[in-house]
Amino acid sequence: MSITIEKATCADAAEILRYLKQIGAETDNLTFGAEGLPFTTESEAAYIRQMENSCDAIMLLAKENGKIVGDASLSRLPRRMKHRGDLGVSVLKEYWNRGIGSQLLLEIINFAKENAFEVIDLQVRSDNLPAIHLYEKFGFKKIGMHPVFFKIGDEEIAFDYMCLKLQ
Ligand SMILES: CC(C)(COP(=O)(O)OP(=O)(O)OC[C@H]1O[C@@H](n2cnc3c(N)ncnc32)[C@H](O)[C@@H]1OP(=O)(O)O)[C@@H](O)C(=O)NCCC(=O)NCCS
Repeated sequence: MSITIEKATCADAAEILRYLKQIGAETDNLTFGAEGLPFTTESEAAYIRQMENSCDAIMLLAKENGKIVGDASLSRLPRRMKHRGDLGVSVLKEYWNRGIGSQLLLEIINFAKENAFEVIDLQVRSDNLPAIHLYEKFGFKKIGMHPVFFKIGDEEIAFDYMCLKLQ
């Protein structure tokens, strides 16, 4: 198995939307389920185009033989929060525990350092132990929690807020 980590390009837009439907069906850890995100291929391509050469946002894709098996993104917050970036990461279930999440996170942290982010923020289900382990491995610390961050049906799901200080 040879996994590559690369920046998303407009040409990936349709495959990203398909990937999000798959990962949404595989886990209840994300903000969406099997329906994926309500974007068209064109709007996703435009979103990716905005990030080309941006120092404020990046989307990385982990691929095996051209197929997307993981993704990670970092987006700078606006105005008085612009020292901070919001992180998201996911990997297809079949590929968990092979170090792909770690590779994606390392590249995101490198981008953040190169582009003068001071803090990386994330929110993670309090019961998502593999993700929390991964984040702690890279130095993220829990800074708070939300008792009902998600509701899936009637189920109330708590989240931890975590951050990594880069400076
Ligand atoms: C979280 C996620 C991105 C991790 O991706 P991954 O490719 O499996 O990550 P890695 O293989 O690099 O690291 C996983 C780590 O979790 C550890 N782990 C696995 N199961 C664990 C558990 N039940 N408790 C604690 N740690 C666990 C692994 O041992 C590994 O740690 P190590 O590198 O010290 O050995 C992946 O599980 C995923 O996509 N989950 C669904 C979406 C999601 O939850 N995204 C995060 C939203 S905040």
